[in-house]
Amino acid sequence: RIESVRYRPILDSRGNKTVEAEVVTEDGGFGRAAAPSGASTGEYEAVELPVEEAIAAAREHVAPRLEGREFAADQRGVDAAIHAADGTENFSDVGANSAVATSMAAAKAATDVLGAPLYQHLGGAFRGRNFPVPLGNVVGGGEHAADATAIQEFLAAPVGAPSVRQAVFANAAVHERVGELLSERGEAAAKGDEGAWAPSIEDAAAFEIVDEAVDDVADEFGFDVRFGLDMAAAECYEDSEEQGSSNSRTSSGDGEYVFGDEVRSTAEQIDYVAGLVDEYDLAYVEDPLDENDYEGFADLTERVGDQTLVCGDDLFVTNVERLRDGIAAGAANSILVKPNQIGTLSDAVDAIELATRNGYDAVVSHRSGETEDTTIAHLAVAVDAPFIKTGTVGGERTAKLNELIRIADEA
Ligand code: PGA
Ligand code: ZN
Repeated sequence: RIESVRYRPILDSRGNKTVEAEVVTEDGGFGRAAAPSGASTGEYEAVELPVEEAIAAAREHVAPRLEGREFAADQRGVDAAIHAADGTENFSDVGANSAVATSMAAAKAATDVLGAPLYQHLGGAFRGRNFPVPLGNVVGGGEHAADATAIQEFLAAPVGAPSVRQAVFANAAVHERVGELLSERGEAAAKGDEGAWAPSIEDAAAFEIVDEAVDDVADEFGFDVRFGLDMAAAECYEDSEEQGSSNSRTSSGDGEYVFGDEVRSTAEQIDYVAGLVDEYDLAYVEDPLDENDYEGFADLTERVGDQTLVCGDDLFVTNVERLRDGIAAGAANSILVKPNQIGTLSDAVDAIELATRNGYDAVVSHRSGETEDTTIAHLAVAVDAPFIKTGTVGGERTAKLNELIRIADEA
């Protein structure tokens, strides 16, 4: 049984405070985990509370529900207790940041006692043979960097890689090549929150550069390397109504998409994205439309869904109810999975299972604010996720990528 649960504020990769949780079991198991944090957060995500508030609430409500009562290895029981401690639909009482840190720390404490790797504890004895393709952010802007591209993320997608290690190295090579191409053009660039280059160039230039970089790296490595996008379009969508409370799940779609100097209607945005998929043979397009526009997502998926992954991040927020609506509407064909969007590992796995049963690919994902925590690498292997999005360079990103390389060696 769980003996104690402790919390402390630590730093994330942006230098913001975040919640770290530690779980100690009566038989000497120990687990530690920390919550990541988004910048381009979806409207329907579980609530991240200010860190001190989240920690105080977790100490008061969550810890007493677990200590002496729950077994760390019973992840469903632990996560149900965290839900009960909160009592709301969206973790607005104890904070999704406290919730997810606790959930992940309990899983790690269980593995410490069981002596099994985390991916095996979460996935079962037969897991660990399939590896996710890492989608690596190589250039971008949006909410992750000022004065950079309007599209949030240009992602290397080494879909032909024979191993996870080759895939990780290929993404790093694309990142390096993009850096060279930028400096050849005289575009000195800093890096954004996820370690991607953040030059102040137009999206059109970024497409040229990334297209060239992935081709070069494909030649060098001898396997297919494509690329994809996270457009994070909800951040660029302006509702037509002035005070539009965009609470409906069927957005009227009559607002405008403003990407830099380009302004597009929903129909134009769909045409634009479908054109990009064709022109650049995109492997992946995340959040190409607003988070309320199931209909637009369905139209685009209908048009390009057999050529590319159309992924819902802010659209689904790892939430089974929103995913169920999306499946019914034919919106997207894959789901981004961020455990802190929904608050517990059990909820994240529920979303993945529903997605998989319905032919939607799960893409397990980091946040722009990260820590050295490697739980998502194990989660991706545990559920046989076909993709993981966890950056390319930078210690908090390579923590996950290197963990994937280690797991692959073990398995
Ligand atoms: P976030 O961005 O972590 O800032 O939300 C990542 C994403 O949109 O996929
Ligand atoms: Zn996203």
